Amino acid sequence: MKTNQLTINVARTAAENVDAHAIPVASDGPLSADITFTRAQLTALGFNSAVGQTLVLPNGKSKYLIVVGIGEAAKANADVLRTSAAALARAASKMSSVATTLANVGRGDRAEIAQAVTEGLILATHRYDALRGEKKLSAKLKSVTLVTLASIQAAVVRGAQRGEVIADAVCLARDLANMPPAHLTAKMIAERAQKIGAETGVKVEVFNKDQLLAMGCGGMIGVNRGSVNPPRMVKISYRPSASRGAAKSSAKKTATKIKAPHLILVGKGVMYDSGGISLKPSDAGHAMMKADMSGAAAVLATMSTLKALGCKNQVTAYMMCTDNLPSGSAMAMGDVLTMRNGKTVEIHNTDAEGRLVLADGLSLAAELKPDAIVDIATLTGACARALGPQMSGVMGNNQRFVDQVVNAAKSTDEQIWQLPLERKYRPMLDSYCADMRNIGGSEAGAITAALFLDEFTSGLPWAHIDIAGPMWADGDSGWLQRGATAYGTRLLVNLAENFKRR
Ligand code: BES
Ligand code: MN
Ligand code: ZN
Repeated sequence: MKTNQLTINVARTAAENVDAHAIPVASDGPLSADITFTRAQLTALGFNSAVGQTLVLPNGKSKYLIVVGIGEAAKANADVLRTSAAALARAASKMSSVATTLANVGRGDRAEIAQAVTEGLILATHRYDALRGEKKLSAKLKSVTLVTLASIQAAVVRGAQRGEVIADAVCLARDLANMPPAHLTAKMIAERAQKIGAETGVKVEVFNKDQLLAMGCGGMIGVNRGSVNPPRMVKISYRPSASRGAAKSSAKKTATKIKAPHLILVGKGVMYDSGGISLKPSDAGHAMMKADMSGAAAVLATMSTLKALGCKNQVTAYMMCTDNLPSGSAMAMGDVLTMRNGKTVEIHNTDAEGRLVLADGLSLAAELKPDAIVDIATLTGACARALGPQMSGVMGNNQRFVDQVVNAAKSTDEQIWQLPLERKYRPMLDSYCADMRNIGGSEAGAITAALFLDEFTSGLPWAHIDIAGPMWADGDSGWLQRGATAYGTRLLVNLAENFKRR
């Protein structure tokens, strides 16, 4: 599966015909011998080696020399080098091939740094250009060679391969979220998931409307009622293949086979959120609601990487896919839905639909009794207003598991901030005739949404990631490209790989 156009190679030397050599420059210490300029000359040209700063210069060995700022050498970690690599990709976007020593510098594990550099290069090159007739905006850059030393070559190769798998998955999730409603219905994303599952070695099962009805998924059916496009629930299963160590020990004592930790991901897949009968105004934000399936896209993208990365944990995913539209048959205010776990919900705003489809997804997840459940959803404008476009919000019922989510965010530079799951606010959801209403009051909207979801987790360790803020980028910057960001994909891959049972 390859969704991006850039090839990353690892070699001991650069090919002779590359367009540019790109050399990292720290703000301290001596310049690389490959740079034919003095620091004073670079400074005179306005280059001060800040993270992500680049300068294209004439060169002897190739057409161009690109100097790439990495800031203070001692602080150049994987996050810094991911950002610097993205800046390099932008500076070279009109060239076709570049050789760089960027993966050799900085502090930290060599494979992790090569992975971050690869991610930065690919993510800043990708563009959703499928629907543009002329003047495609995609970068011309086709190949980047990470020129490396013999002593670290194996680690750089390993890191670059991991980086390609992960960045490719991010590009897939971005493409899916950028696709207009008519180009990607629930049925179409389910078919896409089946294809991706077959290509990447994970099991995919698709559940249609009749099956969802039979299963008692009242949230999915209720939200879908206004649409002519039927809903789909997609279940994806990954099991680690028995490691060599485990095989050895199980030969001796098959009776005490230890099961791998089991994590379940649940993604909000609202293909287009018009608000339903509680129709959203046609302002700037409304067209963005085609990306209200960004959680489901991140989940699918994550699952596509697990076999290639050799993930040691068992991971199951549910994508809850439908659109939310008004019509004569649409869910109405005052309607009461019965969710998969039997709880009833009185509808007070049809635009609070994400929690309704997640309620069924969380109920199904809890039935499998996993070690933990994480949901990811473009859930509330309140969370976006509180935290802005740079970070998601996380809430949960188990601090140790929330900490694992926060750590995954720290390792991937996808910022997150924990909000309190304040149970004193639970009465805000009280209904006079059902187990709860689907909205709280005008305050603490991100928290009341999470309290609603908590009703469907059966008390299992659970965390909820609200990505309403970072799901969209208004412009290109760092490794983000304008449009759907696929935020959470790299975070979830990291969480799936490092997940520990308490
Ligand atoms: N998909 C929206 C939330 C959203 C808003 C995501 C902006 C990304 C950017 C969600 O379904 C929604 O409409 N939420 C309502 C909930 C309210 C009715 C309680 C909201 O936040 O206004
Ligand atoms: Mn909505
Ligand atoms: Zn929504």
